[in-house]
Amino acid sequence: MLDQLHEMEGRALAELAGHKTEQALEQWHVAFLGRKGALTELLRGIGRLSAEERPAFGQEANRVKTALEKAYEDRALTLKQEAALHQLAREQVDVTLPGRPIAPGFLHVSTRTLREIYDIFAAMGFQVVEAPEVETDIYNFQLLNMPPHHPARDMWNTFHTTHEGVLLRTHTSPGQIRVMLEHCPEPIRVILPGKCYRYEQVTARHEFMFYQVEGLAIGEHLTMADLKGTLASFARQMFGPERKVRFRASYFPFTEPSAELDIDCVLCGGKGCRVCKNSGWLEILGCGMVHPNVMRNGGYDPACYTGFAFGMGPERIAMLKYGIDDIRHFFANDLRFLQQFV
Ligand code: PHE
Repeated sequence: MLDQLHEMEGRALAELAGHKTEQALEQWHVAFLGRKGALTELLRGIGRLSAEERPAFGQEANRVKTALEKAYEDRALTLKQEAALHQLAREQVDVTLPGRPIAPGFLHVSTRTLREIYDIFAAMGFQVVEAPEVETDIYNFQLLNMPPHHPARDMWNTFHTTHEGVLLRTHTSPGQIRVMLEHCPEPIRVILPGKCYRYEQVTARHEFMFYQVEGLAIGEHLTMADLKGTLASFARQMFGPERKVRFRASYFPFTEPSAELDIDCVLCGGKGCRVCKNSGWLEILGCGMVHPNVMRNGGYDPACYTGFAFGMGPERIAMLKYGIDDIRHFFANDLRFLQQFV
């Protein structure tokens, strides 16, 4: 019996050393130490031993049991450690590999154009000021010389709100009044960039939201010559020193006289093409001398002070400069479009 016990122990240990998986280890445990395993089997035979032999066999069987349990635990631990080492080796990081490139952001073409405009006017002494996008009828129209029901209001299709007299500004011109009221009677040289809103059918040339850059200069001796010099200089810095410019008479309720500034067509150089509709000229902004009523509304005495103002659409400027044929591209968020202006 003892021989059988020792033979079983030897066999069990030998087999255990060959097992590599948790599953095989479990099967081994069942086969040798389980309720119907080899050791239990041998213990059943204890009845056949003489009373003197029993204690020694019992003791030895216990030792074998403990030894096998211990061997089992050791083997299980070894397997676990080996698995962990394998995993570590597999997951090793190759620190010599190049990193994943992070796509850097870039400025939107409208922002870039705005900043170019700021730079040009900053060099001429203009400060950048912001004004609210949600405005009142008073600032957007009335103080700009357009009383209620004035027909000129039709030039600006307006988003009204559910609050009586509150609207989304249709142009940046209300900012003129805000700056004047804040600074009168000091001289002023500011540009006012920001979003404007118009209740319009969206087409290749019209968006319901777009940027404008307003300009305002007020002083004691400003004349139309200052307006023309300032804006001609701007146009040539923006579109190239060879550009021809012309001022065309126009109408705005808040300027008198009023004008529009054209540059000779950047595409055909004035010969006439599809872009300039065969006129040879491209309109880039509206402007004029600040109307005396507007001066008064801003707190300035028109007998002592004069000023000029202008308003331009940076998207339109960018369209002319880069040959973009549809204003909707600016706000469609299509990277294929935007990435061309990195
Ligand atoms: N506010 C005018 C517009 O939106 C542009 C403008 C600004 C004209 C300032 C003259 C002076 O059309």
